[in-house]
Amino acid sequence: MNKKYRKPVIAGNWKMNMLHSGTKDFMDELKPLLPKTRGCEVVLCVPSPLLYGMVKACRGTKVAVGAQDVSVHDKGAYTGEVSASMLKDLGVKYCIVGHSERRAYHGETDELVNAKTKKLLEAGITPIICVGETLEERERGLTMDLISLQVRGTLCGLTDAEVRRCVIAYEPVWAIGTGKTATAEQAQEVCEHIRSVVRKLYDAKTARSTVIQYGGSMNAKNAAELLACPDIDGGLIGGASLKPVDFSVIVNAACEEE
Ligand code: PGA
Repeated sequence: MNKKYRKPVIAGNWKMNMLHSGTKDFMDELKPLLPKTRGCEVVLCVPSPLLYGMVKACRGTKVAVGAQDVSVHDKGAYTGEVSASMLKDLGVKYCIVGHSERRAYHGETDELVNAKTKKLLEAGITPIICVGETLEERERGLTMDLISLQVRGTLCGLTDAEVRRCVIAYEPVWAIGTGKTATAEQAQEVCEHIRSVVRKLYDAKTARSTVIQYGGSMNAKNAAELLACPDIDGGLIGGASLKPVDFSVIVNAACEEE
């Protein structure tokens, strides 16, 4: 992390877990464990039916609420979809786009992720844009080229000011939910590469202001080492965000790290 230029963002991704009826208890347990300082942003990205209750449960805390996906459409006959303005109206501050699970199970492309990113920015919601390679792509030596393509594709047409409002999450697909974390060196190498792609596409100021997270089996034990890397400005945390104690350890690691 480089706190001189960027405030770290620790975001939990609950995926399709937890229930609305459990959110208050979760927050009651988490609240006293959170640091008093404002050294980092804390976000919980929850399933759509939990958003309203979570916004209420997080009132008066430093935890912002995020969604996990958004529609590319503004409104109308799109059964099952949720628009950016609906999220905004609820008080949602962040939204994950292009998570590898959506890319794999719902055929999401960089083009679609780019369109969703634009909708979120228009609504004043911070997109958390996920990029990452599969194990096969890594083994074939394609990681850096693939990441460049994903970053270029998902940021296509955004102004430098808009990019500075985005969070980019590097999530190697082989590390997600597998317990197999990237080493700090591997994670740093790719996050540094993402920053260099942003620098080439925009400028040095934009590159050094953009928050780049690591995600993939980040947990209470390995968080401090990953967050100490100069280009890793936070984490996107799945499994470990379901347990208040584990999540709070990661948040505290980010807040303390200089
Ligand atoms: P994980 O998930 O921490 O459970 O690996 C991360 C993610 O998918 O965002």
